[in-house]
This record gives sequence, C-alpha cells and structure tokens, in this order.
Amino acid sequence: MRILVPKERTADERRVAATPDTVARLIALGGQVVVERGAGLRAGLADADFEAAGAELVDDADPAGAAIVLRVAPPTVDEVRALDRGTVLVGYAAPHRNLPAVRALAEGGITALAMELVPRISRAQAMDALSSQANLSGYRAVLTAAAEVDKYFPLLMTAAGTVRPAEVVVLGAGVAGLQAVATARRLGAVVHVSDIREAARDEVASLGGRFIDLPQAEDMADAGGYAKELGEELLARQREVLTDRLRKAHVVITTAQIPLRPAPLLVTRAMVEAMPAGGVIVDLAAADGGNCELSDPDRVVEHGGVRIVPGHALVNTMPGEASALYARNVLALTELLITDGSVQVDLEDEVVGGTVMTHGGAVVHPRVTPLLERSGEES
Ligand code: NAI
Repeated sequence: MRILVPKERTADERRVAATPDTVARLIALGGQVVVERGAGLRAGLADADFEAAGAELVDDADPAGAAIVLRVAPPTVDEVRALDRGTVLVGYAAPHRNLPAVRALAEGGITALAMELVPRISRAQAMDALSSQANLSGYRAVLTAAAEVDKYFPLLMTAAGTVRPAEVVVLGAGVAGLQAVATARRLGAVVHVSDIREAARDEVASLGGRFIDLPQAEDMADAGGYAKELGEELLARQREVLTDRLRKAHVVITTAQIPLRPAPLLVTRAMVEAMPAGGVIVDLAAADGGNCELSDPDRVVEHGGVRIVPGHALVNTMPGEASALYARNVLALTELLITDGSVQVDLEDEVVGGTVMTHGGAVVHPRVTPLLERSGEES
C-alpha cells in the first residue's frame, strides 16, 4: 500500500500534507510512505526528518502505483490525469472553483476525498481542516491588520494623553471570525461583529465582542447550522447597518462565507470610502470573490487611504503550524480508509461517505452534483 506525499506545486502553497509524526503513524498502519524530496522544506520540515520517520524519499513523485495520494492544494486537470484509476486522493478540492478538475477526477475513476466536505459532526472534528486552518487565518488576520494599521489596539493612558482603543469590525463569526474576535480582544481593541446566524450572538458575547443587530428578523442558519445565502434585498439592508459601523472602524476583518458558493458582498466601494484614512481591511474570503468589492486576491489594494489585504492565503504565513494541524486532519481521515493494511473505502461510514466527492467514475457528493448541473445550465 504505497502512500505518496508529493511536493505542492502551487506557487503560494507552503504547506505539506504529512509530517514526520504522521508518516510514522501511516507506516504503523501498514503503508509504504513515499515523500517527494523537498516536500516539507517550505514548512520547515527537512527531508532527513521524513527519512528518519521511515519514509522513502524520491526525486520524482510519479503517482503511478500509489494507493493513496495525500495533498494540500486542489489538483489541476493535468495532475488528475497522471493518477491511476482507483487511486484515492485526499486533499482540498475547492469544487466550486475547479469544476474541470472535478470532472477529470470522476472520468479518471479516482476516489477523491475533499477536505472541505468533511461533515461538521463531533466524530469528524479531528479531520476538520476547515476549522484547523480557519482558526489560524483568523488569528493571523488580526496580527496582520495590527501590524499594518496606524493605530494602537489597546486603550492607553500615558503622560502624553489618553489613546482610545482601536475599533475593529469582524464580519462573519464562524471559526475564523471567532478567533479574530478573541485575538483582537486580547490586544485590547473594541470589537463589533456581524453574523446572520442567531447562534453566533452568544459566542461573540462570550469573547467580549459586541453583536451588531441586523434588520432581518429571521435566523439565517440552515438545518446543519450553516449560513443560508441572503437574497440581494437582505444583503443591501445589512450593508446599510454596517455602513455606520464602518465609518468609525480602524480595522475590518471579513470572514463571511457560504459553503461552496461565492462570498457575500458586504463592503462596497462607497463603504470603504467612508472609512477613516489609514484603515485596514483583511478579506479572508478574497479567493471566493471577496466580502469587499475592492478585494484583489493577488495583491494589496490601496483606496482612499484604506488598505485592503487579501487574507485567504494567510495560513501560508505559518506553514509549519498549519501543516502540523492539516497533516493530523488528513491522518485521521486516512485512518478510516485503511483496514488490515489495505485501502477499503466504506461509503456507508458517515464521515467517509460524507467526504467522498468522486468514486467509481462519477461525482457522488450531493453538495457537488448541483454545482455541475448549475455550470451546465450556465454554459
Ligand atoms: P464559513 O467559513 O462557511 O462562514 C463563516 C461565517 O460567515 C459563518 O459564521 C456564517 O454564518 C457567516 N456569514 C455568512 N453570510 C454572512 C453575512 N451575510 N453576514 C455576516 N456573516 C455571514 O463557516 P465556518 O467558520 O466554517 O463554520 C460555520 C458553522 O459551522 C458554524 O455553525 C459552526 O458552529 C459550525 N461548525 C461546526 C463544527 C462541528 O460541529 N464539528 C466545526 C466547525 C464549525
């Protein structure tokens, strides 16, 4: 049972899907672990450490013959075509942004497990990469903003006068947003938070944040606890409420997302123009269209003295820590795929079945098939 860990090829991707610790565990499960030379270097993990853990180091990560391939970034169509039929691929898939690769995975008979699809249930918490990585992004987003903004975060009473604390607005109080609230509070800022799920109100309050009341009376959480997509009218009303709050904001951290959909537009150009000069927006949703109209996923945008920083790749500013957590998530999932030293994909298992995106030549996930149908209608 050959388990391959290739070097990530996406330019900004510094993480790796296995660490020496997880390699040792995969070997104990009966795997022959093959790591591409240099795979961990950008995350601070040396080839020698993988070798000491029992991995075989190779120069060319040829996936032919691999039973399982462990990756971070979603595969390209060419990378999918290099895989043998029946290979199990574990990693991010971002299916809403990579439909050609999703189709190629299905056509190539690959069993792809998408880390974004791991069910958000108690049993699957150890495999929940969305949470482990979002936590890190939320933390790092605040530190990035604090380093960029021309403002102290805490209240300071000095001989030269009193400095008022920074006003921070966090949009979206999921995993990343709550970590951003906690981090900004630890630095002493006053933190205001908007979410459309009522359940977020108490969580925000418990961290010392102030919840922004919105006009929509209805709780916009679905049965699974996720946000529903707001219609344009409700979004416009939400933006009206937020406009006042943003006029006083020194820092805005945006984390609002709808699973497998474009991010909601919460901060328009006019709202940016109303912010105090010197302000900073960090947009964690930049890769999915952005919560801010002016976000550019590839660069920092400066507009009227406000800087808009794309934050979707912030995990890669802490690649060692991010890899350690991600690799443990991947290991916990892979453990469910191995029985008595061989790969057995049990679709009846709630976690495995809920994470498998393509299998047996077809797209099998109920949250991904509608994306293909929709793209078929649009093309
Ligand atoms: P996410 O990354 O999909 O979205 C981030 C936040 O944006 C969410 O809180 C969402 O409600 C909010 N949002 C969406 N539209 C918005 C709008 N127009 N304005 C303001 N906020 C908006 O969510 P994440 O962080 O992946 O998780 C969110 C949900 O998943 C929560 O209910 C959380 O408790 C649950 N969860 C459950 C876990 C488990 O049971 N194992 C683990 C992690 C999260």
